[in-house]
Amino acid sequence: MKTLKKPSILIIFGAMGDLTWRKLAPAIYNLVLQNHLPEQFAVIGLDGKDAGLEKFHQRLKDGAKHFCQCSEIADEKWDALAGNMRFLSGDFADQAIYSELKEQFKKLEDEWGHAANHIFYLATPPAVVSLIVNGLDQAGLAADREHARIVVEKPFGHDLASAVALNSLLTSVFDESQVYRIDHYLGKETVQNILAFRFANALFEPIWDRRYIDHVQITVSEQVGVEHRGAYYEHAGALRDMIQNHLMQLLCLITMEPMVSFEPNEIRNKKVDVLRAIRPIPEDQVGLMAVRGQYGDGSINGHKAKAYQEEPGVAGDSSTETFAAMKLFIDNWRWQDVPFYLRTGKRLQKKISEVMIHFRPVPHQSFPNTASLAWQPNHLMIHIQPEEGIVLRFQAKEPGATMHLSPVDMKFSYLETFKTRSPEAYETLLADVMEGDATLFMRADQVEGSWSVIEPILKVWENTPPSDFPNYESGSWGPQSCDALIARDGHIWTLPEAPEVK
Ligand code: BG6
Repeated sequence: MKTLKKPSILIIFGAMGDLTWRKLAPAIYNLVLQNHLPEQFAVIGLDGKDAGLEKFHQRLKDGAKHFCQCSEIADEKWDALAGNMRFLSGDFADQAIYSELKEQFKKLEDEWGHAANHIFYLATPPAVVSLIVNGLDQAGLAADREHARIVVEKPFGHDLASAVALNSLLTSVFDESQVYRIDHYLGKETVQNILAFRFANALFEPIWDRRYIDHVQITVSEQVGVEHRGAYYEHAGALRDMIQNHLMQLLCLITMEPMVSFEPNEIRNKKVDVLRAIRPIPEDQVGLMAVRGQYGDGSINGHKAKAYQEEPGVAGDSSTETFAAMKLFIDNWRWQDVPFYLRTGKRLQKKISEVMIHFRPVPHQSFPNTASLAWQPNHLMIHIQPEEGIVLRFQAKEPGATMHLSPVDMKFSYLETFKTRSPEAYETLLADVMEGDATLFMRADQVEGSWSVIEPILKVWENTPPSDFPNYESGSWGPQSCDALIARDGHIWTLPEAPEVK
């Protein structure tokens, strides 16, 4: 990552909140630690809570300490950052806070002798987004197309109609080029590496289509439950929380056409083409194409785990799904009739995110039946987390006088190869906003495109409450209906496995 040059002021709305503490604090600190931040850099925290600068400062330091994956906080680096922190408390509906903000900008810029980027980071609940956008607009803080940028966190709406409304609010005040919609999966190294793997190598692209690929499985499984986010999650569910954004983005990167250049809009255009080509799911097919689940109690890593319906903030008879899986088709030349299976859930056996490409079997078996107990077509596994890497599984002859075949792996592990920590997603994304590079952010049409894909499922699920929740045990791989979804096509879910790192 290169050192950023342009003076920048990061303005965090929701400065005392969870996201700032967990994600932004360690990201800012890691950028400081590696000398990536511009020399002229300041953080202004805004919050409804009257916390004061000292508490804000402590909160950031605490977040950095907990989550930065570094052994100790380097005091001299932290102190340098702390000198450039400010805190404003107030009501986001009150124009006074925006006027104060303007004054702070003026002071800093006078001191620096330069105009700075103003990065408005909305680490707030969706309900206050419109207040802040209108407040910024009225104070004239959105008008500078070059320097003012707004960063918006998911959820981008609750369904297609609300996403369209949110986008039109944002773009009535800001130009689309000033809006950075975060999907933190796009900041993950291996996710970015999908593009490098596909388009910087001549080897794979010629076989990356319906002629050679039988089907694709995308799994994002989590061990955690909803933790303290029950109140939010009750209105979201796995389909909105994960599939609409993270899994759809993975799908786009795996299936998009090669970009002509590494320009933000070029890449985003190619992804939108995929979303537009996804075969719409008629409402009467939802039962065949999608399944949902909710975790009951069970055990994870030998520890008891309680059922979703017993989590704080969750209704005792909740019908919110904590697991969702679906099958999709992409109607274009490259992917016609290749099934894509997506699944995600909380409280599953392992935390793992991976894309599994299943190639077609060989057209003719030349080896005797005795050569292998079970023929396995080639697999390519793209591991996104926790270990980052790529594994190609192919058949090899076992040593010995007889012809026996068994599957073997060719492995690439990020850590083993590069021997360095990958930057955290938020680190990359924050640096990109400061740089003005929107490649890894979602454009309005991407967000709306992926809502369109899941809209029929949302509707059907809303209108037909589940009768079998909870339907999977904590610590399992999800409901049986998920196995049935893929078994109907003669496939099974491949058990996710991370590559070993020595
Ligand atoms: C968030 C979801 O976007 O992603 C969470 O809201 C989920 O529910 C999280 O736990 C998963 O992110 P990661 O990086 O841990 O895979």
